[in-house]
Amino acid sequence: MNAQELYSKLKNVSHDSYKKWTLKDCEEIAPIVEKINELKSQNDAVILAHSYTLPEIVYGVADYVGDSYELSQKASQVKEKNIIFAGVYFMAETAKIISPNKTVIIPAGKSGCSLADSITAEELKTLKAKYPQASVVCYINSNAEVKAECDVCVTSSNVYDIISKMPKKQIIFVPDSLMAENIKVEFLKRGVEKEIISSEGSCCVHDRFLVQDVEDIKQKYPEAKIITHPESRPEVCAMCDFVGGTGLMLKYVKESAHKQFAVLTERGLVNRLEFENPDKQIVGPIAVCGHMKRNTLEDIYLALVSPLSTQIVEVDKDVAENAKKSINKMFEMVERK
Ligand code: 13P
Ligand code: SF4
Repeated sequence: MNAQELYSKLKNVSHDSYKKWTLKDCEEIAPIVEKINELKSQNDAVILAHSYTLPEIVYGVADYVGDSYELSQKASQVKEKNIIFAGVYFMAETAKIISPNKTVIIPAGKSGCSLADSITAEELKTLKAKYPQASVVCYINSNAEVKAECDVCVTSSNVYDIISKMPKKQIIFVPDSLMAENIKVEFLKRGVEKEIISSEGSCCVHDRFLVQDVEDIKQKYPEAKIITHPESRPEVCAMCDFVGGTGLMLKYVKESAHKQFAVLTERGLVNRLEFENPDKQIVGPIAVCGHMKRNTLEDIYLALVSPLSTQIVEVDKDVAENAKKSINKMFEMVERK
């Protein structure tokens, strides 16, 4: 991809973007973008990127861009021997668990996530001992050891459907306490009777959106449809027109006849929405996930040429085997739907 081709894409990434792309900016990054794209085929590598990563990754070098579920699925389907996963660590770790024979590399190294970092397997074991009758469900934003302790893993795109089908009435759901509250609200609407027990985690990005932000949007942009992620506070979600994971938000905006949207999520998705829907306007505040933004073109180049040991994802064999069961259970329950 030459500088002009890159510019034709990146110049459209504008809403509160971290930079306004000029042709000169694109000329500066075009050589590394070209090199990465060459190295991918030479090294039998594929690049999977979450929508929250930098636009030069999403539009310059990624082969697949998606949400946590779509990227996990892709990790199980791609033919290439090497997966470069631009995202946060739990996502790359999930790819390694799903495809243990592939080399999985995360350009940013061991990048955190406030949700995945909020609970250990030991803490979950204590919770399980307290509620021995419960089905145990983890949000995919959790580490491999936690996944290994669970009956099933879920993502934002399937959380309600999967939990409502779990055999037990009592559900331990970790680690997102705000999503747990949103599950309770959704189940009241759906008439699903479950007792949800949660741990104390929250997403440091979505947790920041407050009722006041929604009130400000409603006052400033009365025509805007307001959408957010289920990691946001329940009182914020209650004021929104639509709540769903990143893939579902993309679908909602694409299929809507409406023209103006306020999107309470991470900047990368807002950039994608704007890029893919040039006839629609995105307004209002957004937030940034510093963990996702730690992946850079330079790190991807390094990962392809000579990866650092900190970039190569390894998971203990026994942990991986057990964690894989909870991830496969998710795939099975989604396919059975
Ligand atoms: P999605 O699966 O909806 O992309 O969510 C991932 C995430 O980390 C959101 O903060
Ligand atoms: Fe984790 Fe929140 Fe960043 Fe998603 S946006 S990766 S949940 S910190």
